[in-house]
Amino acid sequence: MLTRTTSYELLREHATRLGAVKLADLIHDPARAQDMVFASDDMEVDIARQHIDGAALDALLVLAAEAKIADKRDAMFAGAAINKSENRPVVHADLRSPATRTSARYQKMVDFAEATRSAGAYDDIINIGIGGSDLGPAMVAMALAPFASGARVHYVSNVDPSHLHDVLARCKASHSLVIVTSKTFTTAETMRNAGLAQSWLDMGGGDSKSQMAAVTAAADKAADWGIDSAQIFDFEAGVGGRYSLWSAVGLPVMLAIGADQFALFLDGGSSMDAHFKTAPLAKNIPVLLGLLRIWNRNFLGYPTHGIMPYDQRLARVPAWAQQLEMESNGKSVSRDGEMLGYATAPVIWGEAGTGCQHSFFQALHQGHDIVPLDILFPRQPVGLHLADSWPDDIWQDSHQVLVVNALAQAEALALGRENAELPHKNFGGGRPSTVMSWDQTTPFALGRLLALYEHVTIVSGFLWDVNSFDQWGVELGKEMATSFEAHLKAGTIPAGMSPTAADFLARLATKA
Ligand code: F6P
Repeated sequence: MLTRTTSYELLREHATRLGAVKLADLIHDPARAQDMVFASDDMEVDIARQHIDGAALDALLVLAAEAKIADKRDAMFAGAAINKSENRPVVHADLRSPATRTSARYQKMVDFAEATRSAGAYDDIINIGIGGSDLGPAMVAMALAPFASGARVHYVSNVDPSHLHDVLARCKASHSLVIVTSKTFTTAETMRNAGLAQSWLDMGGGDSKSQMAAVTAAADKAADWGIDSAQIFDFEAGVGGRYSLWSAVGLPVMLAIGADQFALFLDGGSSMDAHFKTAPLAKNIPVLLGLLRIWNRNFLGYPTHGIMPYDQRLARVPAWAQQLEMESNGKSVSRDGEMLGYATAPVIWGEAGTGCQHSFFQALHQGHDIVPLDILFPRQPVGLHLADSWPDDIWQDSHQVLVVNALAQAEALALGRENAELPHKNFGGGRPSTVMSWDQTTPFALGRLLALYEHVTIVSGFLWDVNSFDQWGVELGKEMATSFEAHLKAGTIPAGMSPTAADFLARLATKA
């Protein structure tokens, strides 16, 4: 456990010592800057604007050794049942390995995706799923839009009827494919929307038997529900929902970009796996960023962490990473069920740049709370083509402006600018960030970036000693919603309900 390690007190001392050192002074030490930039192929990760120096970084690496990060990583890749509360191995990274692509499971997905793409029978594909069965594929679809062709792919997650309605209103039942994505095939919102979509197909001149597919780890449940087994794409229970986009959960993405591009996406993830497995801990990007999560959260006391992609197509990455990190590590007990007594996952949030600069960045520059940031961008644009009369390189200048803005924010936050005479114009600086860049946002580069975030989450979970692969915290609310729904129908009030909720439910029953 973090507080029981011998490095814990040492790290607290480093944090106190560095509290008296300005980040700007650390940054301007040229020797330090060289040790703070790490690379994996064309991906560059610059931690020079983190409020840390070599001695504190060394102490963090001692913490990594004490927490047996390398052993735990190896146990995960070896298939040990490290998801203790569910007694399961954690197998999502296996799905990225080229060897897995020869499996019958993967081939079934490829055959279906390619046959569907070449038949061209559908104008629209509607993925119905929520949480990990939505956020990952929806985010990837947006990120890789320039690589997509064929039918439009929509993602419906919310039980709010307007979500499904507004998508169905744009589609024709006779020319649509509906994919129900649910690991458990029991999630209330998804099953309700799936039932509605089934009726919509049948009532609108379509055929739900042939126009519905399922992606699930519970194939029997999908078959019982009525999906043709030829159109059920399954994955193992050891693939956690928020880690699942590499599995059949990626089917809508494969339908959009084709199997070859999807394989490149997997290759990108696999290249980060290789880096994570083999790079020495002192140069291991997921390990270093995982250690910095702990440094910023537990030693510098920063409660939130911002992810700001300077790539409009990566605008959904913060939402995906929010589930990834907060559902994985937002816990108060250890893997052995002991109360931890220290903070774990920071609140993850963020928005695409440069829009965010014209809104909440005010608070990031001058507000009371310090928010460490990840500032992400491709160094070159991709997929910018309007017409032959409009040369592609016309976009280069705008892209450079984008990149310059990202860099300017990182610098301004870290270095600040003093103004003793006009306090409202004073920028204190000292606000840390990690700058991550890569050549272009290709399927490969995206896969590598997402696998990096997964490993950062897992490393920080190992350091906090939490089980990053279960999510019992979502259960109570689900149970209450199910019970309230039943009581609403029966016109009764659940035992133990608060008076104000009871009053509300009673009025809801009468639609008052
Ligand atoms: O409610 C949380 C959760 O279980 C997530 O962990 C999961 O990604 C999501 O719901 C959807 O679950 P399923 O894929 O089983 O429908």
